[in-house]
Amino acid sequence: MTERLARSITALLDDCSPDDITVECHDLLREQAAGIKVDEETVVVIGMPVYVGKIPLPAAEALRKISGNGAMTIASVSYGGRSYGNALFELKSLAEDCGFRPIGAGAFLISRMAGRGGAHGFATALDGEAMTEFSKAAAAKIRRLAGCEIEELKIKPAPLEVSGKMPVHKISRISPRAAAAAQKVIERVSLLKRHSEWFL
Ligand SMILES: Cc1cc2nc3c(=O)[nH]c(=O)nc-3n(C[C@H](O)[C@H](O)[C@H](O)COP(=O)(O)O)c2cc1C
Repeated sequence: MTERLARSITALLDDCSPDDITVECHDLLREQAAGIKVDEETVVVIGMPVYVGKIPLPAAEALRKISGNGAMTIASVSYGGRSYGNALFELKSLAEDCGFRPIGAGAFLISRMAGRGGAHGFATALDGEAMTEFSKAAAAKIRRLAGCEIEELKIKPAPLEVSGKMPVHKISRISPRAAAAAQKVIERVSLLKRHSEWFL
């Protein structure tokens, strides 16, 4: 999801710079997050999965090691179609705390289980359509915000509103095995299917 969003937004902004815009992908859990450098020329797309309505603690801890340096940022979470709970709000707030400047946020329905024709068979495997629409809207916003060299004349975007509340519950601190078991129960009893949602 994260790479797909980054690449489609980049492709739409290709004519903005005389130099080629490059995409760098980093896996926060497999490399030293502290080594990832971001400056105000970078547009950052952060993506995390939703586990039990929250972003996973190890991913949140890894993100805390990166300094956002005011870079325009897209916060995204993937979820299985039940509920993304506070995860998107939590990621957006955490990104702000780390110095990123969130200008867009999206929760996208991505369910491997649906891809395998699993339990309920009603969910979309990957909501590519929503990701494409969001990428177009996000690229247009980045273009508007990046359009002017003179600091005083730059458009100041309204603060990004994502619904959610702090402090978030602490359930993601349970072990991954216990979380997976809890999730199985939740999926068995849950018939709710939500759609991808995004905010700019
Ligand atoms: C332990 C666990 C907890 C999950 N919790 C939720 C949840 O609260 N709401 C939801 O809609 N999907 C939930 N899911 C589904 C994931 O959010 C979804 O499959 C997501 O795209 C996972 O990405 P990944 O497979 O790369 O980890 C959960 C999955 C697991 C394994």
